[in-house]
Amino acid sequence: MHRRTIGSSVLFALYVMWSGVAFAADASGAMPSAMDERVRACTSCHGVQGQGLNNDYFPRIAGKPADYLFNQLTAFRDGGRTYPPMGYLLAFLPDDYLRKISQYFADLQPPYPNADQSNVAPAVLAAGRRLVTQGDPARKIPACIACHGARMTGTQPGIPGLLGLHASYIAGQMGTWRSGTRHALAPDCMHSIAVKLTDKDITAVSSWLARQPRPADPRPAPASAERLPLACGSQPQ
Ligand code: HEC
Ligand code: HEC
Repeated sequence: MHRRTIGSSVLFALYVMWSGVAFAADASGAMPSAMDERVRACTSCHGVQGQGLNNDYFPRIAGKPADYLFNQLTAFRDGGRTYPPMGYLLAFLPDDYLRKISQYFADLQPPYPNADQSNVAPAVLAAGRRLVTQGDPARKIPACIACHGARMTGTQPGIPGLLGLHASYIAGQMGTWRSGTRHALAPDCMHSIAVKLTDKDITAVSSWLARQPRPADPRPAPASAERLPLACGSQPQ
């Protein structure tokens, strides 16, 4: 996948020039169809409705909380996350424009991509399920569902769902948090969690999550008054 994206970066550079013009020319009063046009820069990789692709890495973005999506777009623009094809595309786009793009994708609920099928040992899946649903109190690792919601569809306004993503994407993100190249708003609770996870833990949680079926109601849970097990800058309480 790496080679493929680097290979297409020249195309994207051209694309950016085009989209920069398109974005600037229509900064106000967009009709829905104009918005569809403008996010075409994004849907080549994320799917026409942001549903994610079956290509094993490109993530689903549709239906995630708008504030979460906005935090990611500003992070790619300002350096908190690094993925050059998107960094170029977002460079110089103003916040209010990024808010509109975020709301656009947050409002979509397209079907989920296929769940991962590759063979994984049952013991690995069981360990993943345990970490996601119960955490590991002995190592002070909170259950993932304490923040991502019992249905794992995320929690408004800043916590994304964990379903409909490929194992390689989830594992990749946990790795970049652990190594310090992905940053969320401080305090960055996901960094604190990721540094406690071993490679085995990461394989287990990402394999188990990527096998879960689409929930009956895929919308994020409403903001909860319950205290999170750790403070997260992107989920003010
Ligand atoms: C060249 C393919 C490509 C293009 C074009 C692209 N993206 Fe992405 N996008 C990716 C990849 C790959 C990632 C994951 C990067 C990483 O490893 O962190 C990503 C991550 C994201 C995320 C974070 C997802 C999450 O769940 O945290 C958002 C939001 C996003 N993209 C929105 C957009 C928008 C909006 C556009 C158009 C302005 C866009 N992308 C254009 C490939 C692309
Ligand atoms: C204390 C609350 C909390 C707990 C517990 C938690 N998370 Fe998160 N998680 C967050 C927040 C907040 C974000 C959004 C961070 C940002 O804005 O980038 C997030 C984002 C993520 C993402 C990024 C999703 C994407 O689309 O890029 C992944 C993957 C993730 N968490 C996995 C996990 C796993 C696996 C666990 C359990 C081992 C876990 N999280 C436990 C709060 C939490």
